[in-house]
Amino acid sequence: MKVTVVGAGAVGASCAEYIAIKNFASEVVLLDIKEGYAEGKAMDLMQTASLNGFDTKITGSTNDYSKTANSDVAVITSGIPRKPGMTREELIGINAGIVKTVSKNLLEHSPNTIIIVVSNPMDTMTYLVHKTTDLPKHKIIGMGGALDSARFKYRLAEVLEAPISDVDGMVIGGHSDKGMVPLINHAARNSVKVSEFLPQERMQQVVEDTKVGGATLTKLLGTSAWYAPGAAVSGLVQAIACDQRKIYPCSTFLEGEYGLNDICIGVPVVLGKNGIEKVVEIELSEAEKAKLKESAEGVTKTNGLLEL
Ligand code: 2OP
Repeated sequence: MKVTVVGAGAVGASCAEYIAIKNFASEVVLLDIKEGYAEGKAMDLMQTASLNGFDTKITGSTNDYSKTANSDVAVITSGIPRKPGMTREELIGINAGIVKTVSKNLLEHSPNTIIIVVSNPMDTMTYLVHKTTDLPKHKIIGMGGALDSARFKYRLAEVLEAPISDVDGMVIGGHSDKGMVPLINHAARNSVKVSEFLPQERMQQVVEDTKVGGATLTKLLGTSAWYAPGAAVSGLVQAIACDQRKIYPCSTFLEGEYGLNDICIGVPVVLGKNGIEKVVEIELSEAEKAKLKESAEGVTKTNGLLEL
């Protein structure tokens, strides 16, 4: 399994690191436009191999896409991250051009690759890849829901005073402060619904804290987060590489599922060797359906800013 990660910034390097540490890929190519930067990050990461016990070979390249040839999976993290106070949607102007060029370059050398989009506004960037390449929809995956669900579980564990391994929860909808739909009524602690443990106001607080999970970190760090995004990407790549058929919420092109059309937005999918093996349609309450619809309206509005 050969994986390319485009963008050797904090998120890209963290993706490469977690993929390597999990030791399921033979090769990770890190690529960046900044001269020598990806080579440097790759070398630094490779010098952790004997310490962290992995055999994945990590190499770096300054914008030479021939080095990425025949990648099985390619992760696009390139573009600018948000600064404190910015929304992900505000990045569209610069990032759309970058994501379009990067996906074209990747496909020139790896026409059969699966693309995972991380650059923001992520759902719109995923839609852009869908609209501007010939890749089939099951090979275009937006990473947002896996990260947002991890943040949801972190908040749930905190409020429940429970170990994270005891909690389960999923966030669907758009990967934006307003658009996320944390499915609090489906969240559980060891199969017991969290409503058995928490009053309504605390459940609502978890939902609100989850939705601004990325913004909270951006405020603290001065730029957007990288550890959890990197770990979330590595989970998706592993599900594909090892044909795990795990369910993750991912942004995918919908044609009628959840009553939505012509949009990429986060819904639960089965991830396996072909990418998105299946969209899983779960029963939503009327309130959840309304929130997902509202979220989709927001994503569609942002999509409208694309010059396709
Ligand atoms: C975040 O939420 C990178 O969008 C990403 O941290």
